[in-house]
Amino acid sequence: RIAYVNGRYVRHAEAAVHIEDRGYQFADGVYEVCEIWRGKVVDERRHLDRLERSLRELSIAMPMSRAALAQVMREVIRRNRVQSGIVYLQVTRGVARRDHVFPPAGTKPALVITSRAVRPEVGDKAAEAGVGVITVPENRWERVDIKSVGLLPNVLVKQKAKEAGAKEAWFVDADGFVTEGGSTNAWIITTDNTLVTRPAEHGILAGITRRVVLDMIEREGLSFDERPFTVEEAKNAKEAFITAATTLVMPVVKVDDTVIGNGHPGSFASELRSKFHEVSE
Ligand code: PDD
Repeated sequence: RIAYVNGRYVRHAEAAVHIEDRGYQFADGVYEVCEIWRGKVVDERRHLDRLERSLRELSIAMPMSRAALAQVMREVIRRNRVQSGIVYLQVTRGVARRDHVFPPAGTKPALVITSRAVRPEVGDKAAEAGVGVITVPENRWERVDIKSVGLLPNVLVKQKAKEAGAKEAWFVDADGFVTEGGSTNAWIITTDNTLVTRPAEHGILAGITRRVVLDMIEREGLSFDERPFTVEEAKNAKEAFITAATTLVMPVVKVDDTVIGNGHPGSFASELRSKFHEVSE
């Protein structure tokens, strides 16, 4: 395997960053994970838009032009011969002597890009059975709209989910509303067939997969409501699912100890999953 690290294509096993990289010391950086389907980056434009926004919010410069970034991503994918899988891109504020304040002007942002194959059958098999989620108190900062590499709360709740035999943990805010999962956006379908997901302005990452699913819903003329939903509503929902570049549309069949619907993936979620690549760019 090959990785791109600050201007070089290197063997993945030997790829390394400096010990004074601010990503390592302060989680002072951002990332993107994109799906690769048929050898191409899915929704590349939206991912690069979001990357630029995350960087702007943190006053980190783009490490290179958008066009150059897209080119390097493609090259990493090509060199790893990935047809189906993911590409990971990380930009940090760069390498400097440890000091909380921004490093001296001229410090270059650091860029790492990796890619690996993931067999589509793996996700499809999980989707046939559906997954469980647990609920946990929201304990992250308010700027989860920035796709920062500071993911400690997410790491802890995902581990907790795994230990509970679940796939995902849903953060629940102080008012009892689900914000999102540790690495996915959260959705339910009410008994009157309305798709519900939290508005992207409030307490969640604006998922690209979420956006594509909203486009599908509009295209298909399904009824939807962008509003927060409670854990109670989720437990009484007809269906539930999660979305991310890594999982696409993944049916949820259990929330905590409550079985959703008949305990099998619902027809909306399955349909949205199967049509996903017709709508993604
Ligand atoms: N996670 N919410 C959170 C907190 C996320 O980390 C992610 C993505 C999403 C979904 O966003 P998108 O549809 O653009 O993938 C929502 C990536 C996949 C990860 O951390 O691995």
